[in-house]
Amino acid sequence: MNKISIITPDDWHLHLRDESFMTAIVGDSANQFGRAIIMPNLNPPVRDCAQALAYRERIKAALPKQSRFEPMMTLYLTDHTSIADIKTASKSKFIHGAKLYPAGATTNSDAGVTDIGKLYPVFEQMQKSGFMLQVHGEVTSPEVDIFDREKIFIERQLQRIRKDFPELGIVFEHITTREAVEFVRACDASLAATITPHHLLINRNALFQGGIRPHHYCLPVAKRERHRRALLEAACGGEKFFFAGTDSAPHSKSAKESACGCAGIYSAHSAVELYAEAFESSADFTHFETFMSCNGADFYGLPQNTGSITLERTEWTIPDSLPYPESDLIPFKAGQTLHWKLVANG
Ligand code: NCD
Ligand code: ZN
Repeated sequence: MNKISIITPDDWHLHLRDESFMTAIVGDSANQFGRAIIMPNLNPPVRDCAQALAYRERIKAALPKQSRFEPMMTLYLTDHTSIADIKTASKSKFIHGAKLYPAGATTNSDAGVTDIGKLYPVFEQMQKSGFMLQVHGEVTSPEVDIFDREKIFIERQLQRIRKDFPELGIVFEHITTREAVEFVRACDASLAATITPHHLLINRNALFQGGIRPHHYCLPVAKRERHRRALLEAACGGEKFFFAGTDSAPHSKSAKESACGCAGIYSAHSAVELYAEAFESSADFTHFETFMSCNGADFYGLPQNTGSITLERTEWTIPDSLPYPESDLIPFKAGQTLHWKLVANG
């Protein structure tokens, strides 16, 4: 097989930033995807309907001319999110859920939630309004090992939310462990998970390959090989409740290559090709379209895209760096060879 055409895919988890940082990169996602769920962790965060709609306008204005890329907005839950915030946002066709960041879990999460119990009235309203909850599933307790934070989050928090709000639609974002895959399989039809290209392609060794590798550092951090294999099996197996969400999260080269480098991997530049590389490694493209283009839309209750994209089997090299304000942006797998290239999107 040397060519694959699939329904235009969507990115169900994307960081676009703002202002010149956004302008520098938004075209990459528009080249690769039809739509994307836009994460709200700006500084300050996107907390209400008006802020989300204004952010959407800024994204639309930054898109290349004639682009039909559709940003799907989300709210950032804080200790102060109100029932009224949810009621208003859930009436907008442009806003597709609210993101739970446990405070301190990741980049720009300081304003996140300190006590999930206090948010119960908000979850109640979300369940009533059919408004999706997107979850960054990591505990932040300093005594919990960083590689166990997702597993413990399932045990301490997610199981409880699932049980108390059985009808609430939940997307367990960027899962990284076998335990998360098994949890999703055991849940009913109202919980699904996104999987990133980097968690399908690297395990935690990549962080320490011949030295510290800041460009492989993201949160949740990559885990052992057996976890990567579980993710690959879930993605490539065509299971309904797993779909693509890149978690592409640009940080300048200087912010990554520092004594305290920030978390985030930039994959949007070649996201679909990176996913194809992962499917190539399992030598089975049967469910590529299902994972990239169908499951996410079905879970969110949105129509699948009407266009298509085509990839060709051809070797090409990811650029060493991309232009970005302040200093360059180093894409995931910079300078490395991929075996599939996106040749048409329309
Ligand atoms: C993301 C970012 O930089 O915004 N970083 C990351 O490592 N994934 C935040 C997030 O999704 O956790
Ligand atoms: Zn993210």
